[in-house]
Amino acid sequence: MSETHWQVAAMTTADLPAVYLIENQSPSPWSPKQLAEELAYPGALQLICRPAADGFLVGFLMARLMLGEAEILKIATTRKNHRQGVACLLLQSFIALAKRQGVCRFYLELRAQNTAALALYEKHAFEMTGRRPNYYTDPKDDALCMALSAP
Ligand SMILES: CC(C)(COP(=O)(O)OP(=O)(O)OC[C@H]1O[C@@H](n2cnc3c(N)ncnc32)[C@H](O)[C@@H]1OP(=O)(O)O)[C@@H](O)C(=O)NCCC(=O)NCCS
Repeated sequence: MSETHWQVAAMTTADLPAVYLIENQSPSPWSPKQLAEELAYPGALQLICRPAADGFLVGFLMARLMLGEAEILKIATTRKNHRQGVACLLLQSFIALAKRQGVCRFYLELRAQNTAALALYEKHAFEMTGRRPNYYTDPKDDALCMALSAP
């Protein structure tokens, strides 16, 4: 599916129920309250992706920006739209937007067993910076720390 099929926009409170449906399919999902609090957090940036033709949300990204750095907290896409370039588009859109706001270093953590996410970040030139043993619970997993310098 081509990138022109999708459109990326800033997340609003109206998107939260659909965001929660996607988030709830991921390991260690945030509650609706946590998602709403993150949306209201000053200095945070959230994007959603939907088909250009209709309103159904297919993915979202949540991140925080501070002093030239950004931490990506969440990225997820609907299962039926996996491997259609949605996460790529969200990540590329976010990096471009954050760079325009002066961000030049991006951080994130992911579960070591999340091979799909690892491949996504490696595809976008993120590099491994560390590993935190047993960082995650339910299910138990190590955290991989990754970073991208994008001056
Ligand atoms: C990880 C996730 C966001 C990827 O979303 P997506 O929309 O399917 O990703 P894209 O179609 O944009 O794929 C981009 C690249 O990621 C990699 N990738 C994505 N899914 C993959 C999989 N299942 N296996 C291997 N590589 C994968 C590939 O390199 C892919 O490029 P390619 O299709 O040209 O090979 C999605 O699987 C998801 O929502 N997972 C649950 C939530 C989650 O784990 N989020 C990450 C938390 S750190």
